[in-house]
Amino acid sequence: MASNTTQKAIEAARHCLQQAQTVACFSGAGLSAESGIATFRDEETDALWSRYDPMELASIDGFMRNPAMVTDWYNWRRSQLHEAKPNAGHRALAEQTELRQITQNVDNLLEKAGALPEQVLHLHGIIDANHCMHCDYTETDVGHTQPLRTCPNCNNGYIRPSVVWFGESLPELIWQESYRLCENIDVLLVVGTSASVYPAASLTDVARKQGATIITINPDPDNPTTISNSHIALQGKSGDILPLLLKGLTLRSQ
Ligand code: OAD
Repeated sequence: MASNTTQKAIEAARHCLQQAQTVACFSGAGLSAESGIATFRDEETDALWSRYDPMELASIDGFMRNPAMVTDWYNWRRSQLHEAKPNAGHRALAEQTELRQITQNVDNLLEKAGALPEQVLHLHGIIDANHCMHCDYTETDVGHTQPLRTCPNCNNGYIRPSVVWFGESLPELIWQESYRLCENIDVLLVVGTSASVYPAASLTDVARKQGATIITINPDPDNPTTISNSHIALQGKSGDILPLLLKGLTLRSQ
């Protein structure tokens, strides 16, 4: 439940959204936390990167050192996502059918909540897809039981998850579209991200430099974006705050 301070900040944020012509949302792992999906860096939870080494599980070098282990780890994450249901935050965002969603999340919970696939820009890829390391072979809806395989098309490269690993480029068209959006909006809603992984995190700077108002939603008052980059900081869980914030509003991205 929102405190009095948060309630006042929500009113200010609603006013700002009502005045805005164009809005976009930039989300991270915190948006899916209330669906039971672990975040990466929270100090008070079992965040993934406090339990596992990202360089072993989220880099091409780690994959080449131990491809079977990395494949199994992604299958474990896929099995968790298979069970997960969208939460009230996803649903509140998905109801905004003209709002573009830039997300770092590799889950499809926004889409499961009803967002149209073309509304959602997956900056870090999609965990439910695979591709070949060497040729242009791709797979979707991959499930969570396929062991490590070589490509059935070229018989040469390993099949790997279609998520962006450390040291890899973001998907070019999705990045360009996200950047263009952030250059041309009045308000950027920044939901559940530590905004610590670049270049994705630079989108908040892009929007701010163009004069956009930055509204953050995060339970952690020490979250770096909240401190350094936001005009309105809403402290709390996105599943609590987003329904209150967006109720009765119609937001558009262009
Ligand atoms: P992080 O784990 O770095 O940050 C999650 C943020 O969500 C933290 O600031 C939390 O305080 C906040 N949070 C936790 N519970 C929340 C809730 N219920 N409501 C709202 N916020 C909540 O996750 P990301 O910022 O998404 O990269 O991490 C960025 C990237 O780092 C990920 O996309 C991933 C990871 O390595 C790739 O997979 C390429």
